[in-house]
Amino acid sequence: MAYYSEDLIEEVISQNDIVEVISEYVQLKKSGRNHMGLCPFHREKTPSFCVSMDKQIYKCFGCSEGGNVISFVMKLENLDFWDSVELLAQRAHIELSRFEVRSSHNSVQAQKTEDLKEVLFKINREVGLYYHNNLMDILNSTGYHEVKEYIKKRKFDMGTIKKFGIGYANGKIPLYNYLLEKGFSKSDMLASGIIMENAKGKIYDRFFSRLMFPIFDIRDRTIAFGGRVLDNSLPKYVNSPENEIYFKGKNLYAMNLAKKEKLDNIIIVEGYMDAIALQKSGFGNAVASLGTALTENQARLIKKYTDNVIIGYDQDGAGQEATMRGLDILAAKKLNVKVLILDKPDAKDPDEYINKYGPERLKNCIQNSISLVEFKVKKLENMLDLNNIDSKIKFLTGVADIMAKIENDIERDLYIDKIARKYDIGSGPIIKEVEKRLQKMSKEDIVIDMQSINRKMQLVTNIRKRQEQYIVALILCKDKKIQDEIFEKIKAEDINDDNVRKIYLLLIDLKSKFDINKIDILSKVKEEDMIKELTEIMYIDLSMSDRNKLFQDVIKNKNKEKLFLRRDEILKRISSNITKDEKEILELELNQIIVELSKLK
Ligand code: CTP
Ligand code: MN
Repeated sequence: MAYYSEDLIEEVISQNDIVEVISEYVQLKKSGRNHMGLCPFHREKTPSFCVSMDKQIYKCFGCSEGGNVISFVMKLENLDFWDSVELLAQRAHIELSRFEVRSSHNSVQAQKTEDLKEVLFKINREVGLYYHNNLMDILNSTGYHEVKEYIKKRKFDMGTIKKFGIGYANGKIPLYNYLLEKGFSKSDMLASGIIMENAKGKIYDRFFSRLMFPIFDIRDRTIAFGGRVLDNSLPKYVNSPENEIYFKGKNLYAMNLAKKEKLDNIIIVEGYMDAIALQKSGFGNAVASLGTALTENQARLIKKYTDNVIIGYDQDGAGQEATMRGLDILAAKKLNVKVLILDKPDAKDPDEYINKYGPERLKNCIQNSISLVEFKVKKLENMLDLNNIDSKIKFLTGVADIMAKIENDIERDLYIDKIARKYDIGSGPIIKEVEKRLQKMSKEDIVIDMQSINRKMQLVTNIRKRQEQYIVALILCKDKKIQDEIFEKIKAEDINDDNVRKIYLLLIDLKSKFDINKIDILSKVKEEDMIKELTEIMYIDLSMSDRNKLFQDVIKNKNKEKLFLRRDEILKRISSNITKDEKEILELELNQIIVELSKLK
């Protein structure tokens, strides 16, 4: 990839009207000076997503997402900053080469990596096409071929083969020569992992006699391959190694397809075959984690598109263990997680289930997916033999443990009721056991007290933060007199909130270089938290307020805050072991502070 000068950012922002760009993704309705729509970043029924034509920013009053046209594309397309800029530049037909700078602020090494990545994408693309064409040729030829039989057996139709770019590596033509002819170097081929070299210097293909699945990233670029044997030999799958463009835990197979759907939820499965079987049966929201443990990165990737996930892992022990871990990782990212239970023991995974029982019946299972709590109870059940009294008691105790951890009272009662009925144990004993645990927990009262203290602290912080946001909002009003006075009287370290302080520091920096009333400040911010913060501030409407008075108030409050802080310090110091002299001096200062504070009231 090329490197661009910062000027491109402003060009891109000015050439891509935010209302137009967002309208391509979200239906917007004009409302006063703004455009409103349903927020694409969270599920809602009434619009709270607001796009400002004047300010060229957006903000959701429901989930507090916000930013400019670049951050919108970053979020929605899941691209990084410069990729988004590039995309928007292309949209506006901006001549990118005008802004190209050759690695001026990037090291030569970084440039090399970028170049290598570019080549690896190209190699993968070529190889993917090669495998795919190879398979198509075989399928179109007459006569027996084992891959033909296999395709039939796994019930792949032509549409599926094309959609997933499925191919076949027969290994008859060594790819090395093929790629050499296409102009790729040996070292780049080796870096792709598709070509390998043994200790004796012999070159060979990684994949042969395998059905090939290209793995795409969310921008439809081929980043790796998985190849399956056509019989029962081992290893069942061979995969590309990780390299500059392929990081296993960062990607989800078929996410490039799933993201194009209107996503109510995402079904995450283990294997290529499962994702493909689901997708071809109409479940376009299926993706696969490809047999590795689910990672935080993958959870984050899902979260960009939806808040609801169904885990549809294999029904064997290993799959259920992976489900348990996956549940925790997804729940930690505040995703609503459910677990798919296949209601037939002779179907190990969704692919087998569909082939045996059909998509309609699977749809039923998907609709009946169970929650985290139910899954835990089910696991407990599977571990115990409920026909035996001892185990039944263990089960009851286990259930009570799980129930006691549910924070919401109503939810807890509903579950208790459901479980009591399902296992025919009567809700009385469960409730009694749960109450015992809840009482014990409330004795560990520090936790609860901390909660209320935290809430109060939060309130104070919020009020203080609002004051600090006003400082920046006032600067953005472009009143030179007020700006000068703020910069003179308020030091960055006076600002407590990290994001607001960062923005304030940025403003100080920009002021030393530009006329800040003439530049687009938001375009100078690249950090996600700062973009959000700045957008929030830009939405503070000061047009109706008396700015001078607000300014005086803000300064006054900042002074008050400092005085309070100093007062608390002194009080603490006085009550400690200090000399009489020091005490006297401190008391004097304390008196002064009290007088000053009373003046500020
Ligand atoms: N996997 C792998 N290497 C292996 C075995 C499995 O990389 N030796 C990964 C593959 O991505 C595979 C996933 O783990 O898709 C799940 O494994 P499994 O359930 O065994 O494969 P399926 O996708 O169900 O394939 P099939 O139905 O053909 O057995
Ligand atoms: Mn399978």
